[in-house]
Amino acid sequence: MEYRGYDSAGVAVVADGAISYRKKAGKIVNLVADLEANPLPDSGLGIGHTRWATHGGPTDANAHPHVSTGDRVALIHNGIIENFAVLRAELEAEGTEFTSETDSEAAAQLLGREVSAGVDLADAMRAVCNRLEGAFTLVAVDALEPHRLVAARRNSPLVVGVGDGENFVASDVSAFIEFTRFAIELGQDQVVDVTADSIVVTDFAGNPADTHPFEVTWDLSAAEKSGYDWFMRKEIYEQPRAVADTLLGRYNTDGSLKLDELHIPESELRLVDKIVIVACGTAYYAGLVAKYAIEHWTRIACEVEIASEFRYRDPIITRSTLVVTLSQSGETADTLMAIRHAREQHAKVIAICNTNGATIPRESDAVIYTHAGPEIGVASTKGFLTQVAACYLLGLYLAQVRGTMYDDEIHAVMAELAATPPLIQKVLDELDPIKELAKRFIDQKSVLFLGRHVGYPVALEGALKLKEIAYLHAEGFPAGELKHGPIALVEEGIPIFIIVPPQGRDQLHDKVVSNIQEVRARGALTIVLAEEGDHEVDPYADVLFRLPKVSTLLQPLVATVPLQMFACELATLKGYDVDQPRNLAKSVTVE
Ligand code: F6R
Repeated sequence: MEYRGYDSAGVAVVADGAISYRKKAGKIVNLVADLEANPLPDSGLGIGHTRWATHGGPTDANAHPHVSTGDRVALIHNGIIENFAVLRAELEAEGTEFTSETDSEAAAQLLGREVSAGVDLADAMRAVCNRLEGAFTLVAVDALEPHRLVAARRNSPLVVGVGDGENFVASDVSAFIEFTRFAIELGQDQVVDVTADSIVVTDFAGNPADTHPFEVTWDLSAAEKSGYDWFMRKEIYEQPRAVADTLLGRYNTDGSLKLDELHIPESELRLVDKIVIVACGTAYYAGLVAKYAIEHWTRIACEVEIASEFRYRDPIITRSTLVVTLSQSGETADTLMAIRHAREQHAKVIAICNTNGATIPRESDAVIYTHAGPEIGVASTKGFLTQVAACYLLGLYLAQVRGTMYDDEIHAVMAELAATPPLIQKVLDELDPIKELAKRFIDQKSVLFLGRHVGYPVALEGALKLKEIAYLHAEGFPAGELKHGPIALVEEGIPIFIIVPPQGRDQLHDKVVSNIQEVRARGALTIVLAEEGDHEVDPYADVLFRLPKVSTLLQPLVATVPLQMFACELATLKGYDVDQPRNLAKSVTVE
């Protein structure tokens, strides 16, 4: 689970009537070294945690598990306990001594107090949950119960792995996929009481709760590096298959769309008068790409909004607004809160998500799964391409339902979309020059990216990848906006990536070629991504990377790939941990 947080880690086991634990700042290797030097006793019951710090720095003491005074219970926590200060003050007033600066320890101490007073572990967990505000997944063990753990969730993920004579709980199925593919998705505000042979789920009041069992469709190899140096590189290479799998089964042989999973009556979709796409980070950029296509095909106004901004600005959402959320993990707290807000305003919400059983699809009216397989590299790659592909399916479907495109137009676009996986493969097969180019950037301090129309979000995504994993200052701009300010940044030798729209089929092509000349005249090193056969760019490109010929709206599916690989290669050359970049975590389950 290290990809979810890696600033410290810890484990605790129950054996011989006691809790034994180790925790260490830094990556898991530090913990492993400590465990090798000081092994824990053998046990059939243990909990472990990797942390992404919120309250309190990444120190040994702040690492989880947190053990209550007297070593009665050990607890791990994901999320943020918003009222921890009040709880801590209450416990301190009773004489409890805290050993960390975390919000999580308040939950551990509260649970310890209950259990030490003779309350059953699951009852105690429910009592604790009822006192907590915020987002939390909690897992706890009791020193006197060597065969049982309890776990709980609110606004933060938790799944149960159902084994044969053994059971698991985790934030994500990849933690136990090696042992079982059978899983149970826990609902909001539920507690699960687990032994090797039993799983009992209740709500926070102790009433039996409904659960949703599911079978994981991918196997362990999908969550392994399979010979690649980084998950990110593996995931970049998986993109042709990921896009193909996302399209699979969603169109008929005649090119018409079938999105059976939507479960929103066509009559309701015909009444939609505004679409709002809500997402974060890379998923937000996928949304920016989708806006161009959706508006063009459906003639419905489409806004794209950063999820963390959406809810807090009182957005105009009505019953006839269709909210589309994009989330690879399905657990991003900002996006989840945006969904709740939209549904409170009676809008319909469609989630485009990559993770079966995650909170976001569960809380949405409908879901279109991207079938990318698990994305483990912290920097999203196949997540982006598959989100764009899924948005395009939705856009074409809406156009079909609302009659805003002729059938043969829809079929032509769908045929071109279905033909992109081999073209993405072609880009991947020709990446050597991009890898070579990275060698020239080791000491580079700043890089710019320019694009227009759908090339603009591609530019933003190219820049984000460099910031995230190569720690390089990078900015993406709409090429037409350059002259209104950013061109002042252009100085001798500054590298600028420019995504050029298709030649002859896109009215912006010539304007972007002019933009290349403008920055080159001011000394920039131009790295041009242009389609095969476009020789107009040749005189102005210091470095030229060829893209397969596709129509404008599909160009992001091929143009983003070299930018992903460039960032991956540069970060590798700089000696950085590509899969676990500093300060980041894969699933951002806090607001
Ligand atoms: C960038 C990246 C993040 C995520 C963002 C949303 O490489 O990984 O910007 O795209 O945190 O995550 P999901 O899609 O899981 O909601």
